[in-house]
Amino acid sequence: MIQTVRGTRDILPSDMPLWHRVEAVAREAFRRYGFREIRTPIFEKTELFARGVGEATDIVHKEMYTFTDRARQGSEGESLTLRPENTASVVRAYIQHKMFADKSPGELTKLYYIGPMFRRERPQAGRYRQFYQIGVEVMGSSDDAAIEAEVMEMLDWFLKELKITNTTLLINSVGEPASRAVYLETLREAIRPNLDKLCGDCHHRFETNALRVFDCKVESCQTVVATLPTITDSLDEASRQHFEQFKAHLDARGIAYTVNPRMVRGLDYYTRTAFEIVGHDGLGAQNTLVGGGRYDGLSETIGGPPTKGFGFAFGLDRMVMALSEAEAESLRAADAPSIFIVFLGEAARAHSFVVAQQLRAAGVAVAMEFEDRKMKKAMAAADKSRATYALIVGDNEVATGKYGLKNLKTGEQESLTLDEIILRLN
Ligand code: HAM
Repeated sequence: MIQTVRGTRDILPSDMPLWHRVEAVAREAFRRYGFREIRTPIFEKTELFARGVGEATDIVHKEMYTFTDRARQGSEGESLTLRPENTASVVRAYIQHKMFADKSPGELTKLYYIGPMFRRERPQAGRYRQFYQIGVEVMGSSDDAAIEAEVMEMLDWFLKELKITNTTLLINSVGEPASRAVYLETLREAIRPNLDKLCGDCHHRFETNALRVFDCKVESCQTVVATLPTITDSLDEASRQHFEQFKAHLDARGIAYTVNPRMVRGLDYYTRTAFEIVGHDGLGAQNTLVGGGRYDGLSETIGGPPTKGFGFAFGLDRMVMALSEAEAESLRAADAPSIFIVFLGEAARAHSFVVAQQLRAAGVAVAMEFEDRKMKKAMAAADKSRATYALIVGDNEVATGKYGLKNLKTGEQESLTLDEIILRLN
């Protein structure tokens, strides 16, 4: 029997109402805050991620699904990659379609996306090799910290609407590229005497981008990381001020946060503000729900004009896991037909097809099975369908045009015409 590939999974119908709910609340948040949807390809040129996300990141270095496309006549097959994230793709689309053209100063492009991403990580609960993200990107010429705070406000609304309240917002500033270069030297000096205590991956990180040692999950490395100077200590003045403004905007909106100077995020494109939202219920070790930040240099890195950007993505898989049991239960319960048609006899069966067609045309969700069964068996099927009502059609009902509508929760039964039933259900 052929099964799913390690780290991938089927999302089964019983879980779909939870996914739909998270997606619907996200789309509602995006509507309220003026974001429009974009869909970019699932695979892109490898170079986009190598340059955009950064060669030294775990994502590019170890986790990408990269393959060589078939050669075309006269040219070699190019290297393609299943997208490990979508910020680089959205910024590419922004540049490719010249979305910056005809913009007044301060005008923003606000985009959102929903879709699968691929990373070859070690699978565990809440961590998959194909997972889903919902994210937003705000691009334009302004780097006002109010833009960031408004996005945080939207996330705050979104989480409250889903009743996911037990979360912590962690914020940090990773500064400008120039101050980061100075900091990286300080960092390398501090790491050098401890190199023998670090894992092989951290040796590689030390050589390529020392900031990435903060991403290491190995416990012995964490002990060293805890002693290292943080980027926040060597922030440039402009970034420091920007961070102060960001915090003031959060305060003004009543959004609580914790500053974590060691949170540097696992992607290279961040400048200044970086943040994560960590959940505490039902998530286990993979408890980072949302990650995001500012990326003012990304456009130029991939060949575009100077552009400021800020955005986030959350893991849809994890957001679904963070829903409370009670919420999940009621979403599943609501995912059932309104009516299950129970018919008795051949004539009633033929008549039921017409009744079902009319009810469906009127917008009612109707379930029906086609086998002629005894009343008891048919009612058991109706119960199993979790429908709100059973509609009973027998010879008598066919003759009178009045049907038995039985409430399957209370057991109450009434005799009603089709029009009355439609009125009742709408
Ligand atoms: P990220 O932190 O790499 O950021 O991913 C964002 C979120 O995606 C994570 O917080 C987590 O919820 C989810 N996620 C990541 N990897 C997995 C996985 N293997 N399995 C399940 N869920 C996962 C980004 O991707 C940036 N593009 C976010 C961003 C947008 N920054 C600015 N704009």
